[in-house]
Amino acid sequence: MSARIIDGKQVAAAIRQELQQKIAALRSETGIQPGLAVVLVGTDPASQSYVSAKEKACAEIGIYSSDNRLPAETSEEELLALIDKLNRDPKIHGILVQLPLPRQISESKIINAIAPEKDVDGFHPVSVGKMVLGEETYLPCTPHGVLQLLQRCEVNLSGAEVVVVGRSNIVGKPLANLLIQKAPYGNATVTVCHTRTRGLRNHTLRADIIIAAAGCPNTITAGMVKPGAVVIDVGVNRVEDPQAKRGYRLTGDVDFAAVSEKASLITPVPGGVGPMTITMLLFNTVQAAQKKASHAR
Ligand code: GUN
Repeated sequence: MSARIIDGKQVAAAIRQELQQKIAALRSETGIQPGLAVVLVGTDPASQSYVSAKEKACAEIGIYSSDNRLPAETSEEELLALIDKLNRDPKIHGILVQLPLPRQISESKIINAIAPEKDVDGFHPVSVGKMVLGEETYLPCTPHGVLQLLQRCEVNLSGAEVVVVGRSNIVGKPLANLLIQKAPYGNATVTVCHTRTRGLRNHTLRADIIIAAAGCPNTITAGMVKPGAVVIDVGVNRVEDPQAKRGYRLTGDVDFAAVSEKASLITPVPGGVGPMTITMLLFNTVQAAQKKASHAR
């Protein structure tokens, strides 16, 4: 069997088009333009490239973005002062602090300092708590993007056996939580596997849907996949490749060539989950501006 490849770029483009129309309507009805503040501390190449992609995506659909790039030596106090300023800036509806942060800065202190109504990453404890309780809130972008991909590809989650590989605060934990919600896009039976899991293959072989978010190439090989399973690859790994123009290429957590012969549906890297993550950030920013507009009325 050869899997159908999920085109994340195409799904993302459709959602971005819907958002562009919402933004145009919001601006003409209320004069409010959604605004996102992007904060990057340091010069990590992968973070720089993510941040630039986020700003470009904002510009393409009519979101104002403010670019805040700070040197790697920035202190926690300086960053907290910037967050405070952005929390009070009426042009800014969402704040995104790119992670990871340099060692001298506590990530949890910074995330806690972001006003929950501007937490478009969905990382603040208030957002996380509401998500777990099934209350309306900003959903974290990558897990939300994965759910949107599954939904738009009409994958049935109700009662499905889903194995999530990875337990990060950004992907694995929230994704597992969303998948078990008693909600139209939930109701799955979820197993979360991680670095201490014994016999990973025994778990993945039972899965109707495997979601790989381990951050390690070839975590999922063909022998670990049930024929006909759906495989979602959240991994973004840079591997050295002297033949590539930049000296590296991107690869996911899944052995794509071999697994696509076994699976029924699979996401590629790049071009799968990645474009969806940015799209859901745009979605949350528009939602934040809409909420502000409805409160102003
Ligand atoms: N670093 C890796 N993924 C993310 C993300 O989704 N949001 C932020 N802020 N930083 C990240």
